[in-house]
Amino acid sequence: MSDCIELMHTAPLRHLAVIMDGNGRWAKQRGLPRIAGHRQGVEAVTVIVDACLLQGIDVLSLYAFSSENWGRPQDEVDALMELLLQFLALQQNKMLAKGISLRVIGDTSRMSPSLQTALKEAEAKTAGGKRMTLVLALSYGGRDEILRAVKKASRQVCQGELDPDKLDCCTFSGFLDTADIPDPDLLIRTSGEMRISNFLLWQLAYAELYFTDVLWPDFGADDLQHALDDYRQRKRRFGLTDEQLHEP
Ligand code: IPE
Ligand code: IPE
Ligand code: MG
Repeated sequence: MSDCIELMHTAPLRHLAVIMDGNGRWAKQRGLPRIAGHRQGVEAVTVIVDACLLQGIDVLSLYAFSSENWGRPQDEVDALMELLLQFLALQQNKMLAKGISLRVIGDTSRMSPSLQTALKEAEAKTAGGKRMTLVLALSYGGRDEILRAVKKASRQVCQGELDPDKLDCCTFSGFLDTADIPDPDLLIRTSGEMRISNFLLWQLAYAELYFTDVLWPDFGADDLQHALDDYRQRKRRFGLTDEQLHEP
């Protein structure tokens, strides 16, 4: 068990992670182009961000674009990047006003220079937000993140700055893009798919998993409430026995 995992089977949910899936199928069901589904997906993001604020969630992580999604048709990739730019332009002042700090994880060096600048500006502008951290996973792959972390740690070892014997789960977590962010307590995936798709592979080690058939553009505050109610029924044992958890 990671030293970072705290025994908190009854504690409130601090970090919610979401694989927002089903935009394409939502559009197809309506005879619309896939991008219409992505556009509606952005609407769902704004609804869920507000709902999470009301729920008092500290960190909301949204899987918005995977390292594998670069392989989609170029027009879809371009449209997604454009939507992201629009999202930043429209939402950053709102995030600032609501006390939300934006944090981007993933290999954003693959994005256009203008998008990289816009992301950095939005992160800097909202950095003081204390109510909630919104983590956007962009050009993100869990394996890629772990590899980049291994490279960073190896460089420190080579330079004599890190003793390899001192590398434990906590110190290694500090090399990941999610450094200083607690592991997710709950992962929601929409659209009926039951897989992780390379999302937060290290951090999800002990997350509770919740799958729903609802397509992401249809996912609203009531659906979030169902997921949170379900989470509250779970018993998080972290490898221990029930009896140990109930010890005073
Ligand atoms: C999720 O919806 C959004 C992204 C991956 C960017 P999809 O685009 O994967 O929608 P489906 O799975 O094709 O329905
Ligand atoms: C996962 O959805 C990535 C995001 C939601 C951004 P995909 O639709 O790309 O996942 P797979 O390919 O069906 O596993
Ligand atoms: Mg999909």
